[in-house]
Amino acid sequence: MSENNAGDAPNAHRLTILGAGVMGVGIATLAVGHGVPVALIDVDQAKRAEAEARIAHELRLAGLMGALPDDVPTGELVISDSLSDAAGSTAVIEAVTEISELKEKVIAEVSVIVSPGTLLVSNTSSIPIDELASAAARPAELVGTHFMNPSYLIRTVEVIRGARTGEAAMDSVRALLTTLRRRPVVVRDAPGFVTSRVLHPMINDAARVVQEGTATAEDVDALMQGCLGHATGPLRTADLIGIDNLVDSLNVLYERTGDSGCRPCDLLLEKVRAGDIGRKSGRGFYEYEG
Ligand SMILES: NC(=O)c1ccc[n+]([C@@H]2O[C@H](COP(=O)([O-])OP(=O)(O)OC[C@H]3O[C@@H](n4cnc5c(N)ncnc54)[C@H](O)[C@@H]3O)[C@@H](O)[C@H]2O)c1
Repeated sequence: MSENNAGDAPNAHRLTILGAGVMGVGIATLAVGHGVPVALIDVDQAKRAEAEARIAHELRLAGLMGALPDDVPTGELVISDSLSDAAGSTAVIEAVTEISELKEKVIAEVSVIVSPGTLLVSNTSSIPIDELASAAARPAELVGTHFMNPSYLIRTVEVIRGARTGEAAMDSVRALLTTLRRRPVVVRDAPGFVTSRVLHPMINDAARVVQEGTATAEDVDALMQGCLGHATGPLRTADLIGIDNLVDSLNVLYERTGDSGCRPCDLLLEKVRAGDIGRKSGRGFYEYEG
């Protein structure tokens, strides 16, 4: 098992992140911003090509907001298309698309590349960790984390302990989160854990209210913010998450719980079909520039 202890020097960690999408880039920003070296791996050439500039941009934003330590040099960043670059890592975080088969494939492949004892983490929104653990060569090494977007601003991280997750993996994930100055809240394994099980059906309902013509997206968000204290409004949150990812997560929840409130509503499905998937495409419930 990794010998990282709480308070380790940042370069005692060597992190591999799989997936350079919204979350992979965000977690990479958080890690290099705390001095941890990162290998960021994606199969999509376009994602790899833009990743460095996106991380530089997020580092600037995080710096302006005072969200990163100013006494730690930025960690080295390597962007790659080859899983073999995960060899020698102290931890691997997979943040690939929320499709079970894809995650199982990368977990199976990477778990035989890294040394026994290396922490394996899935940043899945909803897939039970014990399901994914079956794909790993050593199921005891897999832990769930649920970093949120933007990862550098949100200090609390939901940590999911699967039925087979070992104590050593829990120690390693706590040590990594300590170095990243995050606050773990450990929960048991279940579809959607706590945050997605509560938030994603709520966003689905908010979209359904718009679909039924009861209110505009702006008015739904204004009411949820003004009356109920929701920080950004559920539909702005949908745009921030990515509506494609939200629909994938709702499908995972629906398939595993049978809760009809988790079946993605038509408006969300239409937006995915139209490519209006939120901030990352420039349009979702709202329009975005740049
Ligand atoms: N978006 C959010 O707000 C959010 C929050 C918490 C958790 N999550 C979870 O984090 C994970 C990633 O979400 P995202 O929003 O970044 O998705 P995304 O669609 O923005 O990015 C996924 C990336 O994975 C890459 N990928 C797919 N297969 C791969 C493979 N075999 N190897 C390497 N890369 C591969 C894709 O090319 C893409 O760049 C999902 O499990 C999601 O549910 C998302």
